[in-house]
Amino acid sequence: MQFQRQILEQWFDENQYETEYNLAESAIRCYNMGELGLNLDDVPLRYGYHKGDPHLRSLLAEQYEGLGIENIAVTCGASEAIICMVMGLLEPGSHVIVEHPNYGSLIDNPRARGCDVSLFTLRHEEDFQPDIERLESMIRPDTRMIVLTHPSNPTGSTISEETLHRLVELAEKHDTLLLFDELYRDFAFDNPLPQAATLSPNVISMNSMSKIYGLPGIRVGWIATKNEEIADTVRTVREHISISCATIGEAIAIQVQERREDFLARARAIVDANRPVMDAWIKDHPCIEWVPPACGINSFPRLKPGVDIDPEQFITRLVKHHKVHVIPAARMEYDPRHFRLGFGCDTEELKTGLSRIDETLKDLNCI
Ligand SMILES: Cc1ncc(COP(=O)(O)O)c(C=O)c1O
Repeated sequence: MQFQRQILEQWFDENQYETEYNLAESAIRCYNMGELGLNLDDVPLRYGYHKGDPHLRSLLAEQYEGLGIENIAVTCGASEAIICMVMGLLEPGSHVIVEHPNYGSLIDNPRARGCDVSLFTLRHEEDFQPDIERLESMIRPDTRMIVLTHPSNPTGSTISEETLHRLVELAEKHDTLLLFDELYRDFAFDNPLPQAATLSPNVISMNSMSKIYGLPGIRVGWIATKNEEIADTVRTVREHISISCATIGEAIAIQVQERREDFLARARAIVDANRPVMDAWIKDHPCIEWVPPACGINSFPRLKPGVDIDPEQFITRLVKHHKVHVIPAARMEYDPRHFRLGFGCDTEELKTGLSRIDETLKDLNCI
């Protein structure tokens, strides 16, 4: 396998601790340990269960209608699940279709494996909705996996339940696996999509403690699948990468899952406070437009057509001079006029960050 650096994570690595206003994050405002009020004194610091702590797996399985703990594999973040699936389910030369823009590892890992990766690109002009006929036309007899993320990172768009069913039918019809990244699913709060894995054995659902729970630092993610062999394959590969999760991370995940509703309520309160700030800022903005995100804290605005500045200069000035962290779309192999703006941070931080975006545009004589 030949790995390149993950260009989005490289951007984080270079900028996240150098900036002051964090509008780059795709997780809800992250917790500090003390805020969780947990007692971890009795957590054994031995190796954990290779497929994940059984209590954690049972708490997670309860959330998937018809699935049990044998259908869940817990990993060190969804990131580890991705590489385990790529290593265990794909081969050099396998054809893989990945929705794009998307989280970079979903594209880079199959590439590093030597797979033949086709990008299924979502477009601003189509409200970032997947065109199912176009997707079907990309499927080949050797297509082994389709990878979709809804609600989307970075666009915040999502699909209807009807579309989800059509996508699952497509995977079944063409006898291919569908990896459905559901890391933002619960941000739909009252009406989330059904978890795709509950609909078909061809589908793998993936989720994580990182985003809506605000706990990326504990590095706990998981997959759910009706196909137990796939869950076992993930375990087989992860035994070579990490053996098990950190027991401390799993212990935190268990205690958080036991109070899941409190964490969802906190996320919802942050979204309810910050979304109107975003809406007010972007409404009638002279330079920036977006497809309004359906839910959550990710958005993918762009410089309006006709705004004549160099996007790279804009982002560099914003990040290096005004200390506002956002993600340039070039780091997602996408049209550089877009950037990812996450609004799950403190409301005051968001307001200052947005006003500094405007200052940057003034510096460049756009406003
Ligand atoms: C869509 C998506 N999938 C997977 C991941 C990996 O998440 P983690 O490893 O923190 O669980 C991310 C992280 O940003 C993501 O946005």
